[in-house]
Amino acid sequence: MRIDILTVLPELLESPLNQSILKRAQKKGLVEIYVHNIRDYTTDKHRQTDDYPFGGEAGMVMKIEPIYRCITKLKEERPYDEVIYTSPDGEMFNQKRANYFSTLNNIIILCGHYKGVDYRVREHLVTKEISIGDYVLTGGELAAAIITDSVVRVIPGAIGDEASALTDSFQDDLLAPPVYTRPAEFNGWKVPDVLLSGNFKEIAEWQERQALERTERLRPDLLHK
Ligand code: ADE
Repeated sequence: MRIDILTVLPELLESPLNQSILKRAQKKGLVEIYVHNIRDYTTDKHRQTDDYPFGGEAGMVMKIEPIYRCITKLKEERPYDEVIYTSPDGEMFNQKRANYFSTLNNIIILCGHYKGVDYRVREHLVTKEISIGDYVLTGGELAAAIITDSVVRVIPGAIGDEASALTDSFQDDLLAPPVYTRPAEFNGWKVPDVLLSGNFKEIAEWQERQALERTERLRPDLLHK
């Protein structure tokens, strides 16, 4: 899989995309991630990526030309399955969307900024508008990092323990059961006996009950969808 991220702040993405599982997945050749500075696609002397909005409101709008140039160049090199735009007024991101994106070959993620992009970008170039939650970030870079992280970790082979990604919270619309590690007792606080029993059937039943109970208590909306 290949992910191309278009941004006016490439520095913001450097660290989150090059640590831990994302770093390993790239080294293993499971995913290629490229960050493009939209400013490199300007042609004017001031390398301007934003401008005042028509209609005279406050704030700046990202210009269409450099974004168009960058997306067009990428599309000339290979076909893209989705061009994703990160914006608080997009469709809500969730595990299902992460799973879907992870099945694609090539995607572009365009990071919104300021008051957003010239709407013609959304009308003519973008295929999916994604929000990571009902709150407003200063830019779409952190949203793009979150989307990329959650997409890459479900690519088969990205996580050492294959089963692990499937037992994540949300994979089956249930929250994950509690997990514990050694010591079995700390400060008088004990790990549930069943987990030390070695009885895998009972352990699996306990985990399922816990997952249901936690989901009912903390996220009943998931159960009653
Ligand atoms: N850009 C600013 N806020 C955002 C959000 N909540 N989701 C995606 N992109 C954003």
